[in-house]
Order: sequence, then C-alpha cells, then structure tokens
Amino acid sequence: MSPSLSWASGLCLFGLLLGLCSADDPFVFYDFKVSYMTASPLGRPQQVIAINGKFPGPTINVTTNNNVVINVHNKLDEGLLMHWSGIQQRRSSWQDGVLGTNCAIPPKWNWTYQFQVKDQIGSFFYFPSINFQKASGGFGGFIINNRPIIPIPFPTPDGDIVILIGDWYIRNHTDLRKSLNGGKTLGMPDGVLINGKGPYQYNTTIVPDGIEYETITVHPGKTYRVRVHNVGISTSLNFRIQNHNLLLAESEGSYTVQQNYTSLDIHVGQSYSFLVTMDQNASSDYYIVASARQVNESLWQRVTGVGILHYTNSKGKASGPLPDAPDDAFDKTFSMNQARSIRWNVTASGARPNPQGSFRYGSINVTQVYVLRNTPPITINGKQRATLNGISYVNPSTPIRLADQYKLKGVYKLDFPTRPLTGPPKMETAIINGTYKGFMEVVLQNNDTKMQSYHMSGYAFFVVGMDYGEWTENSRGTYNKWDGIARSTVQVYPGAWTAILISLDNVGVWNLRTENLDSWYLGQETYVRIVNPEATNKTELPIPDNALFCGQLEHLQKAQYISSATLPRASRMGLVLVLLMFYALIVSLNC
Ligand SMILES: *[C@@H]1O[C@H](CO)[C@@H](O)[C@H](O)[C@H]1NC(C)=O
Ligand SMILES: *[C@@H]1O[C@H](CO)[C@@H](O)[C@H](O)[C@H]1NC(C)=O
Ligand SMILES: *[C@@H]1O[C@H](CO)[C@@H](O)[C@H](O)[C@H]1NC(C)=O
Ligand SMILES: *[C@@H]1O[C@H](CO)[C@@H](O)[C@H](O)[C@H]1NC(C)=O
Ligand SMILES: *[C@@H]1O[C@H](CO)[C@@H](O)[C@H](O)[C@H]1NC(C)=O
Ligand SMILES: *[C@@H]1O[C@H](CO)[C@@H](O)[C@H](O)[C@H]1NC(C)=O
Ligand SMILES: *[C@@H]1O[C@H](CO)[C@@H](O)[C@H](O)[C@H]1NC(C)=O
Ligand SMILES: *[C@@H]1O[C@H](CO)[C@@H](O)[C@H](O)[C@H]1NC(C)=O
Ligand SMILES: *[C@@H]1O[C@H](CO)[C@@H](O)[C@H](O)[C@H]1NC(C)=O
Ligand SMILES: *[C@@H]1O[C@H](CO)[C@@H](O)[C@H](O)[C@H]1NC(C)=O
Ligand SMILES: *[C@@H]1O[C@H](CO)[C@@H](O)[C@H](O)[C@H]1NC(C)=O
Ligand SMILES: *[C@@H]1O[C@H](CO)[C@@H](O)[C@H](O)[C@H]1NC(C)=O
Repeated sequence: MSPSLSWASGLCLFGLLLGLCSADDPFVFYDFKVSYMTASPLGRPQQVIAINGKFPGPTINVTTNNNVVINVHNKLDEGLLMHWSGIQQRRSSWQDGVLGTNCAIPPKWNWTYQFQVKDQIGSFFYFPSINFQKASGGFGGFIINNRPIIPIPFPTPDGDIVILIGDWYIRNHTDLRKSLNGGKTLGMPDGVLINGKGPYQYNTTIVPDGIEYETITVHPGKTYRVRVHNVGISTSLNFRIQNHNLLLAESEGSYTVQQNYTSLDIHVGQSYSFLVTMDQNASSDYYIVASARQVNESLWQRVTGVGILHYTNSKGKASGPLPDAPDDAFDKTFSMNQARSIRWNVTASGARPNPQGSFRYGSINVTQVYVLRNTPPITINGKQRATLNGISYVNPSTPIRLADQYKLKGVYKLDFPTRPLTGPPKMETAIINGTYKGFMEVVLQNNDTKMQSYHMSGYAFFVVGMDYGEWTENSRGTYNKWDGIARSTVQVYPGAWTAILISLDNVGVWNLRTENLDSWYLGQETYVRIVNPEATNKTELPIPDNALFCGQLEHLQKAQYISSATLPRASRMGLVLVLLMFYALIVSLNC
C-alpha cells in the first residue's frame, strides 16, 4: 500500500485550526487492517498477525515533519494498541499507543492515530504493544527520510532495504501468554525469522524441507542502505552478510561515526542502518544471517535466521557453512566493546541543519538520578512477576495520561524509588516524577543472567557508559561526555550496568520498559511523567477528539459511530475525502 500525500493546503488549514500541524507540513495517510492470518514461517501452519493481509506489515515511509495519519482497524478478537517505537511523539504522548497513555482499541473498532514526526530522521519500527501480540507479528518498518534541504552524511544510496529480524515461536501469542501466566518460562525459541520468513536450507539436518526464505535482490556495484530491526521477543541477534562489509551509518535516528563491521549484535528493539556495497564477484549468492547471541550457540543452533543476498548476475546458490559469529564464549567484553565503539557523528546534521554535536549533553548538570535494577523473575502473591527496583508494575484500568486529564485521584503513585528497594517485592502502579526541563541520569543495572534491553518512549537518550559489575558514583568517571550515541533502545549486559542521560523536554507520560517481551509482560516497566508547571497549551497538544475512554472514564465513551466493517474499501482519494469530512465535522463542532 502506498501512502497518499496531501497536496491540499485546505487540509492543513483544518489541521492548523486544531493546532496539530504547521503550514506546508504535508499529511501522509495509511490505513491498517490488523487481522489474523495463517502462515507457516517455520514450516508448520500457525495464526500470525497481518496488516492489510501482509506479514510483516507494510513499511511506513515518510519525511521529517510530515503529519502521519494511520487509521488502525482492529480485526483481532481482543484489544489492540499500535506503538510507534522510537517515534518521539513530540508534545503528544496521546499517540504513543501504550497502556499508560491510551485505552486499547476494542475488537471490531478502528482508531486513527495522528502525529507529526517533528524534527526526526531515521529508522524505526512499529508493533502491537499489548497482550503479547508482538510474538505473533503485527510489526513493520517506519522510515523518516530527511528533508531535501538537509544533507545526509553519506552519498545518496542506490536503494533502501528493510530487514526485520527476530526470534520466533510456533506457539502463538495467546499460548505464550498462558505459559507466562502459569509461572513457566518460554524456553528456547523455535527459530529466527527474517522479514517474516524462515531459514534458507543451508544444512538439511538443521533446516527441514519446504521453508520459504527471504531473498533480497541487488545490483552489482551499487550501495544500499540496509535498515535492520530486531523485532523479536527476547533474543539478542548477531547480524552479518557473508563477505560483505556493514558500514554503520545510523542508529535509531542518530547518524553514527561511520565504521565497518563484519557483524553487529542487535538487541531486542534496536534498529541500525548500514551502508552495504555490492562489491563481490557474485560467483554465488550470499548468506544473510541473524543468529542467537549471548547463549550457548551450539545448543541454540536452530535459533538462526538465514536469508539470501542475490546479485542480479549471480552464478549460483549459496552453499557451505554460514559465516561464523565472533566467538565471544570466552570474551564477554567483545560485544560490549563493540557497543562502546558506536559513536555519534557530532559534525553531521540530524533532522535540522545544526550538527548533532551542538547539543552538548556532557556539560549539562544532572538534576535527577534513578538507579533501576532488575532481577530474574520472582514470585509475588503466588504469581510469576518481573520487577524494577523491587516493584512489579501493574497497568491501571484508566490510562495515567487520561487520569491526569480528568483529575482522577489514586490511579497511580508518583513515588517510584530512586534506588532499588530492600524490602519484599511488591506489585504497584508506581511511576517516576520527571521534572520538566530537568536532566535525568538513569542507571540500568541488570542483575539477571540474561541480556536486557530498555526503551524509553518520547525521547532519544544519550548512552554514556556501560560496564560489568555494580555501578557506583565513581563509575561516572568513565562516562563518554562527548560523542555517546543518542537512541531510544539500549542493551544492558547480564551482571552489568548501562548509564543514560535524558533531557526532559517533552511533556507527557512516557513508558520506560524492558523490551524483552516476557519480562515486560510480567511487569518490568514504569512510566516517567513530565508536566510543565506553567499553564500553557504550547508544550502539549490537547487530548485528541477521538480519544478512547476506559476504566473509571468508560462512561464517557460513545459508541463507535462508523462501523469500519460497513465502509467500502476506501480508495486513496476516498480516504482523503473521508478524512477531510471528518476534520470538517470536528472543526464545525469546535467553532
Ligand atoms: C493459539 O493457538 C491455540 C492452539 O494452540 C488456539 O486454540 C488459539 O485459538 C490460537 N489463538 C489465536 C489468537 O490464534
Ligand atoms: C474509523 O474509520 C473511519 C473510516 O474508515 C473514519 O472515518 C473514522 O474516523 C475512524 N474512527 C476513529 C475513531 O478513528
Ligand atoms: C560525519 O558527518 C560529516 C558531515 O556530514 C561527514 O562529512 C563525515 O564523513 C562523517 N564522519 C564520519 C566519521 O562518519
Ligand atoms: C522510502 O521513500 C523514499 C523516497 O520517497 C524512497 O527513495 C525509498 O526507496 C523508500 N524506501 C522504502 C524502503 O520503501
Ligand atoms: C549440518 O549440521 C549438522 C549438525 O550441526 C552437522 O553435524 C553437519 O556437519 C552439517 N552439515 C553440513 C553439510 O555442514
Ligand atoms: C569500509 O570498507 C570499505 C570496503 O572494504 C572501504 O572501502 C572503506 O574505506 C571502509 N570504511 C571505513 C570507514 O573504514
Ligand atoms: C570470487 O570471490 C571469492 C571470494 O572472495 C573467491 O574465492 C573466488 O575465487 C572469486 N571467483 C572469481 C571467479 O573471481
Ligand atoms: C554448550 O552446550 C554443549 C552441548 O550441550 C556443551 O557441550 C558445551 O559445554 C556448552 N558450552 C558452554 C560454553 O557452556
Ligand atoms: C553545573 O553545576 C556547577 C556546580 O554546581 C555550576 O558551577 C555550573 O554553573 C552548572 N552548570 C550549568 C550549565 O548549569
Ligand atoms: C514532582 O516533582 C515536582 C518538581 O518537578 C514537584 O514540584 C512535585 O512536588 C513532585 N511531586 C511529587 C508527588 O513528588
Ligand atoms: C546480583 O546481585 C547480587 C547481590 O548484589 C550479586 O551478588 C550478584 O553477583 C548479582 N548477579 C548478577 C548477575 O548481576
Ligand atoms: C488551553 O486550551 C483550552 C481549550 O482548548 C482552554 O480552555 C484553556 O484556557 C487553554 N489554557 C491556556 C493556559 O491557554
């Protein structure tokens, strides 16, 4: 499906009246029908989540400052929220699509997200954020291109390729949920998918017959921008392309210092752009590999994704063993050193003409410090739970942001502890009181024996340090205060810490969570609430007119006035017209 760009300035005028956009920022429309579909990525039929009949979903491909309108139709049998991972939702946590800000879209309903991708560039992805649905799919790439007036720090690539990698189970999300609710762990995944497809049969003992694999066709001599996202559940993956250099160029919206890697560890929720030049002689096709990391790789052999890079002049099939991942069984610092080598290009322009490095994060004084510690899952009140600082987060029935809007009391507590609690672990809706315009230091301490990655919505944060052992005040001496990368998802090695700095300039309620879907599901998350004490409508957009209500506010919810099922399939023009009418209606109601 291709988006329809709005040239109609009248539409933007309506948007302006709503305070949603600035003149000349075009609208881009998408229509997402989210439904179950049968697919057999690992050779056995299973129910997956498709968007517009596609698994994975279509790539959203827009430009800095575009107003993006995505009408999400929930054709599943349970609630749905679509989350735009890494999209900063400036001034509008209303559009973030997580339970702290939004009520779930009920089955058979549709809900239109509308947000501006303000001052952002880069490679991101979207996925369904609740009910463990991500384990069944529903994900896709999300690209924000630079505006033509802003140069990119490399020659324009000859093509743009999205690669979604992720661990995968044959059991569907409802079965996996049941395991976790029953106090079990998920066990080893059944495989790794590349763009929704199983492994190429590189070895007949390991890969059964009849599996459909991903093939990426390229032209010799050309350079492609390859955007790789780990959309999986909990497995860190080593990504590599046989015989090809990966020139790292971008990570989650920041241009990096460009460096060659033969492979890179990509943790759950992370995104990277590589520039890959097709400089080989095409005597055969080449393997694209995503293999499980930080595990016993000989036991986890089946947890390997294998796709094919096919030159148009290729002379034969790929064969022989896969290229090896770096052997880090006896060198646990290898991967961490690789992570530390990823630096911000402080002279490159990001979404704006001024260089990324003009934001001197290293000379800003920290105003709030949180040390967040996770442990292996524990039992609270007879239930398996995961914690941060001894607190296992419980989603309130009324989203936090809505509760604030309607001044409801007692929905959450603003007392999230700044250090791990020493008492018995508890289940609570405790969130972090972020100070608007403050500068927060968060130290993530992983006391589990498994890799964790953490994500924060609404922001790109600076990764200033990571090391094994316990973080202490002295660890600050090792911080990178100059060219630490700004991103939205960072890994924390087992038995290690990672420190991040966040400039709290985006008002709203923002999710801070582990990306490991099982730990997240079991409560390893919280929110950071940032309120501008000054009464102004400038730092946060008003509640959207189509906001859904639930929990204590359920009585405010009107029946859905258009059944998406009865609507004819909107053509591109039709959709624009329908939305035009929708805006006209809202505007006339407001005035
Ligand atoms: C998941 O799989 C189980 C069988 O293992 C099936 O009963 C259930 O309907 C499936 N759920 C979905 C949403 O497909
Ligand atoms: C549901 O979709 C229709 C068009 O199919 C649209 O007019 C309507 O605004 C959508 N509802 C919401 C709440 O977004
Ligand atoms: C950093 O960005 C500048 C400006 O675009 C570019 O000229 C330079 O090559 C980049 N440096 C590295 C090391 O990637
Ligand atoms: C995204 O759009 C840009 C510009 O319209 C185009 O060059 C690029 O190939 C597209 N990327 C993908 C993955 O579709
Ligand atoms: C296929 O994998 C098996 C199990 O790891 C291994 O023993 C065998 O040597 C491999 N075969 C080839 C042709 O590489
Ligand atoms: C990366 O590797 C390519 C091909 O070997 C080489 O031409 C290029 O100079 C390298 N770039 C960097 C920044 O090391
Ligand atoms: C192509 O490259 C491969 C790997 O570098 C090399 O082994 C092979 O001899 C080359 N083949 C030709 C025909 O040049
Ligand atoms: C990995 O598993 C294999 C097979 O069970 C075992 O022989 C080996 O010792 C394990 N390696 C490590 C590093 O634990
Ligand atoms: C940071 O704090 C130091 C010491 O408290 C103070 O001297 C300095 O002016 C502060 N810097 C900024 C940018 O506020
Ligand atoms: C939250 O922080 C603000 C300062 O940013 C402070 O004024 C307020 O009292 C705090 N609220 C609570 C409940 O701690
Ligand atoms: C977890 O914390 C305990 C107590 O501080 C420590 O002894 C242990 O080594 C830690 N384990 C990991 C994996 O960090
Ligand atoms: C903010 O907007 C609302 C309605 O949109 C209005 O009632 C309120 O007075 C405005 N507040 C300020 C401080 O401008």
